[in-house]
Amino acid sequence: MKQSESIIKHGDCLKILKKYPDNHFDLIVTSPPYADSRKNTYGGIKPDKYVEWFLPRSKQFLRTLKPSGTFILNIKERVDRGERNIYVIELILELKKQGWLWTEEFIWHKKNCHPGKWPNRFRDAWERCLQFNKQRKFKMNQESVMTPMGDWAKTRLKHLGENDVKRFNSQAGSGFGKNVSNWIGRTKAYPTNVLHLATETRNRNHSAAFPKVLPGWFIKLFTDENDWVLDPFVGSGTTCEVAFELRRNSVGIDIIKEYTELAVDNLKNYERYFLEKQGAYETD
Ligand SMILES: C[S@@+](CC[C@H](N)C(=O)[O-])C[C@H]1O[C@@H](n2cnc3c(N)ncnc32)[C@H](O)[C@@H]1O
Repeated sequence: MKQSESIIKHGDCLKILKKYPDNHFDLIVTSPPYADSRKNTYGGIKPDKYVEWFLPRSKQFLRTLKPSGTFILNIKERVDRGERNIYVIELILELKKQGWLWTEEFIWHKKNCHPGKWPNRFRDAWERCLQFNKQRKFKMNQESVMTPMGDWAKTRLKHLGENDVKRFNSQAGSGFGKNVSNWIGRTKAYPTNVLHLATETRNRNHSAAFPKVLPGWFIKLFTDENDWVLDPFVGSGTTCEVAFELRRNSVGIDIIKEYTELAVDNLKNYERYFLEKQGAYETD
C-alpha cells in the first residue's frame, strides 16, 4: 500500500511557499506564534505589527490553497496591561479584505488549562480555531467526526411524550424546533463547534505543541485520504504526524532549525511506530 508523503522544510513559510504552485493544498491547519508571547523561544512579533506580519504569509496560503480547501487558524489574543489585545479581531477583518471568507469559529476548550488566580479574570480555558475558506462551497466530511450518542440517549428515548413524536417548536419563540423521535436508532450525533480537548505538551520538546487530536479532527473533517495538508508553522511536527496516520500527504515548515530537526525525528519515530503497529515496517 502506498504510504503518504511527509515533507518538513526549514525556513520562513513566506519564502518557502512562493515555490509552491497555486491551488496545491486541501487544508492548511496551523498555530502561528501569538503576538509578543514566548519571546524567549520564537515569535516576539509586537501586537501592533502582527497583522502587517501575517498578511503576506496568508496571501501565500490563499494562493496555494485549493478553491475547495479550508484554512484553520488556531490563535488567541493575549492580555496586555489588563485588556485583551484586539489584533485577532483586526486580523479577521484584514483577512476578509484579502479575499478570505470567515466561515466558522471553533472553540478549543482546554480541559486541563493552566492553574492560576488573578484579581480581574479567571483561568483562560479556550482558544480560537478560526475557519476561513476561498468559496462558500468547500469539502467537508461531517460524518467523519460524529460522536457516540452516549448513555443519556437510552434513558431519554425510552419513554417519549406527546411533544417528542412531532416537531415541537421552542416555547421561547426562537424559531428553533426539534422532533426527539428522530433520534431513535441513531448511535452517533454531529458534534458542536466546541472541541473539548486536553493540552498535551509533555515529551514534545516544544513549548506550544498541539494535542494530536486537534489537527486530527480538522484533517478528518476537511480532507480525504491522499489529500495534501500544510502546516506553515509546524513546530514539533504534530500536524504532519497525524496527517501520516490518517493517510494524508503533508508539508510542514518552521523557521527554527532545531524545530524542523525535532519534527523530522518525531515524524521518523512516529512513522516507524505506526507502520510497525500495522505490520508494514520492515527491518533487515
Ligand atoms: C505555536 S508554534 C507551533 C507548534 C505546533 N503546532 C506543534 O504542535 O508543535 C509556532 C511555530 O512557528 C514557528 N515560526 C515562527 N515564525 C515562522 C515563520 N515565519 N515561518 C515558519 N515558521 C515560523 C516557530 O518557530 C514555532 O515553532
